[in-house]
Amino acid sequence: MTDLSKLEADLVAAVAGAADLAALEAVRVAALGKSGSVSELLKTMGGLSPDERRERGPLINGLRDRITAALTVRKAELEEAALNTKLAAERVDLSLPAPPERRGRVHPTMQTLDEMIAIFADMGFGLAEGPDIEDDFHNFTALNFPPKHPAREMHDTFWLPEDANGERKLLRTHTSPVQIRVMQQASGKLPGWIATGQAPPIRVIVPGRVYRSDSDATHTPMFHQLEGLVIDRAIHMGHLKWTLDAFTRRFFESDAVVTRFRPHHFPFTEPSAEMDVQCDRSGGSVKIGEGSDWLEILGGGMVHPKVLANCGLDPDEWQGFAFGLGVDRLGMLKYGMPDLRDMFAADIRWLEHWGFSAFQAPNPATGLS
Ligand code: DAH
Repeated sequence: MTDLSKLEADLVAAVAGAADLAALEAVRVAALGKSGSVSELLKTMGGLSPDERRERGPLINGLRDRITAALTVRKAELEEAALNTKLAAERVDLSLPAPPERRGRVHPTMQTLDEMIAIFADMGFGLAEGPDIEDDFHNFTALNFPPKHPAREMHDTFWLPEDANGERKLLRTHTSPVQIRVMQQASGKLPGWIATGQAPPIRVIVPGRVYRSDSDATHTPMFHQLEGLVIDRAIHMGHLKWTLDAFTRRFFESDAVVTRFRPHHFPFTEPSAEMDVQCDRSGGSVKIGEGSDWLEILGGGMVHPKVLANCGLDPDEWQGFAFGLGVDRLGMLKYGMPDLRDMFAADIRWLEHWGFSAFQAPNPATGLS
């Protein structure tokens, strides 16, 4: 075997034996690199006589070409093998079952609120909001609460420390102060307050958090109310009754729901009433639409002329009704949750049990999911 054919055999074996791209590159450098074995042979050509060159030249060039070709072929093989290994390692098995996903649940209060809003929105009510931290004027004075009314006392209301102006703000005890803000804005008395921007006629609902210093199975320091306010020129108690009756039937998803209005007292409405729903309370749970018990679910009445005047609306021109509902309480009634305090205990097990899917089919009564 000549020296060239031995070199070729060695290099071909080295190329074939290169197990990966890095090993192959080492073989290439050893053969064709600057001082590789083949490169060194090529360098010797300059020193050969013309006869020798004619004889050796094609042999050496042929060797270089074959080694180059062998390197190219092996490189392609190794690249394909590397790709196949990678594909095999990264293979996604689409037939595998998906690992369970922890899904959030819609809190029953928010579900209830969404249903209520959808029903009133269908009746043409707009939405207004106000601040949780209120002043005495909006929470009490403008709503015609007398100076010594018990709701103004510490044991019922969370008062904030005096501010720099000597004023004590409070956590609103109801959503009724937003009535005042909406009417003030409508009468132009409260420029810049963004509520509805509506001049009378007004037709709004006000959902929101309210706060009272209270805690037992049916009272929590924070809960949710939904206020309603309608102001126009010829509004009377009949409109209030129809609105609340229609709401109640739709909310409880039954035309069998029976309601009754009882005279009551609120400082900000005259006359005032509470509305009860007929229910069955025997057996520990409350069933709406049957039985002979009554359960109070809301307060309402005709907006007191003094309240209208306090907001800059002329009571001889405008009148209307207002009402206030406890959102969490209505949710408890509709969905059968026994204890109001659980609703705000942030216990994930409770929420998983009583919560709602965010992806459920639309509720046939409300059209809302
Ligand atoms: N603000 C009352 C409360 O928290 C509820 C209420 C009663 C609101 C009568 C009204 C109303 O707008 O007219 O107990």
